[in-house]
Amino acid sequence: MTEHAPPADRTLPIPRTCPFSPPAQYAELREREPVARFRLPTKDEAWVLTRYADIRAILADPRFSSDVRLPGYPFFTPERPSEQPIQLLIHMDPPAHNEARRKVISEYTAKRTRDLRPGVQRIVDERLDAILQGPRPVDLVAEFAVPVPALVMFEQLGIPRADHEWFLSTNSLLISGLTSESERDEAFGALSGYLMDLIEKKESDPGDDLLSRQIAKNKESGDYDRTWLTGLALLLFIGGSENMASMISLGAMMLLRHPKERARITADPSLTPQMVEEMLRYFTIAELTMTRVATEDVEVGDKLIRAGEGLVALTNAANHDPEAFPEPDVFDIDRPARSHLAFGFGPHQCLGQSLARLEFQIVFDSLCARVPGMELAVPFDKLRYKSDDEGVFGLIELPVTW
Ligand code: HEM
Repeated sequence: MTEHAPPADRTLPIPRTCPFSPPAQYAELREREPVARFRLPTKDEAWVLTRYADIRAILADPRFSSDVRLPGYPFFTPERPSEQPIQLLIHMDPPAHNEARRKVISEYTAKRTRDLRPGVQRIVDERLDAILQGPRPVDLVAEFAVPVPALVMFEQLGIPRADHEWFLSTNSLLISGLTSESERDEAFGALSGYLMDLIEKKESDPGDDLLSRQIAKNKESGDYDRTWLTGLALLLFIGGSENMASMISLGAMMLLRHPKERARITADPSLTPQMVEEMLRYFTIAELTMTRVATEDVEVGDKLIRAGEGLVALTNAANHDPEAFPEPDVFDIDRPARSHLAFGFGPHQCLGQSLARLEFQIVFDSLCARVPGMELAVPFDKLRYKSDDEGVFGLIELPVTW
């Protein structure tokens, strides 16, 4: 390992100094050392990749594993996910991963996602009704971006209405940029315990929801495991709410920052999907989750990544690689951005992306149509952001009025 130990000043994460572009060092790395050795806050060392083509290739390469129990897996926090009793889909490798993913993918087909449209629209409309009738200014993060995707997931997972308020406030502790690490750990434990109990109840009293369907399917194939299903529920809930809340608030902020684009999508909502792809590319909010470990020696560019060495795929650097996206720091809703890596790539590519796209389209179209006079209630430079090292980049608050 010392053979290529990183220089002392080479540490990840490199903070975003500007919310609207990746750290300047990403461009330097991409140019001069696209596969570079870095130290992580845990003192783990890892290869750090910054080029679009390299990252896309390694994410699809079965010689790189997502199994956090393997020696050499790179971690950003001292708590090793491998010590958690709950196994997550996102940390599995083929063939077990393929089988597990196949069981749940039926919940996210294009048809099933289309069927969710009226429910998502109702949730968005109800939240907007409440906001429009309430006092101004309003914090769009707390009152809209956090609850909307959480409510969508409640319906999908079959979380009873009576528990929504508790679940929402516990979830807010988990994803707020203002809570301490211990508060977040406590919230995570409470949500896992709740979901485990809920799944146990659904075993004997099923409903018309994803968890009940998964229980039936897994029992039928003889491999039902409550702990595994709890992990899936948590992954879906956290993926389906924290990432979504961040992108909804950043997207709403971009509408306020770019009045011309906002006017265009208000007049022609068929442009919204391409704007959403550009927003996903532009911010790439979840890049520090993209870690892997090599299971064989693999050459990437001019470097040899040895079996047992970890890597971090900086997808925000990839999504701002001028080879893939010309003038990458320009927010351009006319560019074909759908090949971005904000949802990952390869076997673990985001399972919920079709639902995410549906929610974004409904959210941004509804905001444009129903709150045409929306404006920021504070100057742009007073907005506060969650940093990447908290997991997902996003806004802490978005005070708006109309
Ligand atoms: C802005 C929204 C979202 C972003 C940026 C996002 C990002 C990602 C990324 C980058 C991955 C790949 C991780 C890896 O390769 O290691 C991923 C996987 C995943 N996402 Fe999302 N996601 C979003 C929304 C959602 C939603 C709405 C759901 C659930 C309904 C969801 C559920 C999942 C699951 C279950 C996986 C693991 C898939 C697997 O390992 O096979 N995500 N997501």
